Amino acid sequence: MKVLATRRYPGPALHELADLEIAPLASLDAPRPDVEGLVVANEPPPLQLLPSLRVIANFGVGYDRIDVAACAERGVVVTNTPGVLDAATADLAFALILAARRRVVEGDRIVRSGGWTGSWADSGFAEELTGSTLGIVGFGRIGAAVAGRAQGFELRVLYTQRHEVETELGEYRELDALLAESDLVTVHVPLTPDTDRLIDARRLALLRDGACFVNTARGEIVDEGALVAEPDVPAELLGLPNVVLTPHLGSATRQAREAMTRLVVDNLLAIERGDPPLTPVLSRA
Ligand code: 8YV
Repeated sequence: MKVLATRRYPGPALHELADLEIAPLASLDAPRPDVEGLVVANEPPPLQLLPSLRVIANFGVGYDRIDVAACAERGVVVTNTPGVLDAATADLAFALILAARRRVVEGDRIVRSGGWTGSWADSGFAEELTGSTLGIVGFGRIGAAVAGRAQGFELRVLYTQRHEVETELGEYRELDALLAESDLVTVHVPLTPDTDRLIDARRLALLRDGACFVNTARGEIVDEGALVAEPDVPAELLGLPNVVLTPHLGSATRQAREAMTRLVVDNLLAIERGDPPLTPVLSRA
């Protein structure tokens, strides 16, 4: 099976694909009837140029830029990489929770700018993380992994998602109640038409004074007046000392990225053998 991958994805698994071509989608300017498998990182596939396509293996759990319904209509299977990046993303959420709550980046800036005199700080205290209330928006695999980590910090955990679930890891709240009751809020929902700008200006205003808000999911889940789509970081955010900004690095650990490629390749090989895909994506339509 001829596979086209939009970049050299990390780790050794990609070498198992016998007929692999690496090319960015932008370089496809004519139909490619030879291509049967496509590897993308949440990039819109040019279906009209790929008449023989059988499978799109998305490198990533989020597939919001792939029209799964159009793929289903064409009989193209879509797969993603759930599970293998939960730990990396939950760890990043905690890194940001700690950085924001304990004002780590602000402290770093003070030291670098020569503003630290070596004395003990007697003002500008941060609030302690231990014992505070963490609100988790979206209680799927990554949200639950964050809740698991929260136990180590003795946090009280609230969670919200479409349906209440049986869990020891936290108490269910409606979204608005969760925002109003939490000292820290962390977002772990996929980007769908329902979650686009889910956290709008009205909901941001429900947050407590001094609450920390962490978003390691898609930028578009927060109203663009407060946070525009990456990578156009608004100047207002760049200027705020109490905001921690990162590039797109939720799954950016060697282990997670190599495991994602492994899963991408296993999905492609399953389709090539005529077996069901391991982690298919279902059309929401
Ligand atoms: C990216 C991600 O796919 O899984 C997701 O949804 O956003 C990431 O893992 C990865 O960073 C490559 O762009």
